[in-house]
Amino acid sequence: MAYFLAVANRKGGVGKSTTAVMLAHSLAAWGRKRVLVVDLDAQCNSSMILIGGQGWSDARNKRTTIADYFFDLYDGVMPDMKDYLLPSVGDVAAPGRAGVTLICGSLLLEDVQGELYLKESSQSKDPEVVSRRVQGRVKQLIKRFETDFDVVIMDCPPGLSFAALGGLQLANKVVVPFRPDYVSQFAVDRIAMLIEDKGNLEAVTSVPKEQRRYVALANFVEPTGQDRQFIELIAEDHPMLATQLPLNPAIAKSFSWLPQKRSIEEKYGAVASDVRKLYDELALLTGL
Ligand SMILES: Nc1ncnc2c1ncn2[C@@H]1O[C@H](COP(=O)(O)OP(=O)(O)O)[C@@H](O)[C@H]1O
Ligand SMILES: [Mg+2]
Repeated sequence: MAYFLAVANRKGGVGKSTTAVMLAHSLAAWGRKRVLVVDLDAQCNSSMILIGGQGWSDARNKRTTIADYFFDLYDGVMPDMKDYLLPSVGDVAAPGRAGVTLICGSLLLEDVQGELYLKESSQSKDPEVVSRRVQGRVKQLIKRFETDFDVVIMDCPPGLSFAALGGLQLANKVVVPFRPDYVSQFAVDRIAMLIEDKGNLEAVTSVPKEQRRYVALANFVEPTGQDRQFIELIAEDHPMLATQLPLNPAIAKSFSWLPQKRSIEEKYGAVASDVRKLYDELALLTGL
């Protein structure tokens, strides 16, 4: 059985895609795992980092993106699931059978979800029932990948699409990257309520931190008192990784795709030790 890891936050630009890809490379290169990245965000950033613009364009033309996967398989038709998988992606070398495979993101994901919703509407007129059914079906479709992989990493969009909700429900653990600023505090509260399925923050905080399904990760951290204060404030209410990712151009640079593989230390350069710390802490927390 695969371990399902989601990277999510209701806010954009906090480092979700960066973290998803960082964890994918770490788990493959250091953890020797077979990793699947599922790009659930119509922004397609993790796909861009892993296969570059041309690769993404090819996947669109061949109709092998996540939108095609959901659309084609929704009715239970069984085309070969492997057709949608792009193996050995990214620019980091991994040992043996380990490596990163991608289900490519799609700009059309939201449109496809609208179509699935319409299909389901013929069965029921209750919008609540229809939404639940689409979400449940999307969740099942993602779950089908568990036999071929050790870890499935879902890069979630900031919006509440069916795919994001299904992914969040499926996740054994959700990593919530945030920027230490005023808005982030509320963004972390909101995603925590969604993940823990609680109506308010008090209900979330009544669940012991170690029992919660998510963990926050401070990103873009600068060595200032202000950043430290924001992080401490968020850590009062939420489980938080001790590892913090610094604001560093080496992280921004790791966003760009290179055609040839290299070592993970080489890819992350000046921040390789931070990436290693994140991997070690998360591996310990999840048992991966
Ligand atoms: N710690 C960091 N230091 C510098 N740049 C970063 C850092 N984390 C992310 N970035 C950059 O910030 C931008 C947004 O990151 P991204 O992962 O796309 O966020 P999200 O997926 O949450 O929208 C990207 O250009 C990325 O390279
Ligand atoms: Mg993103």
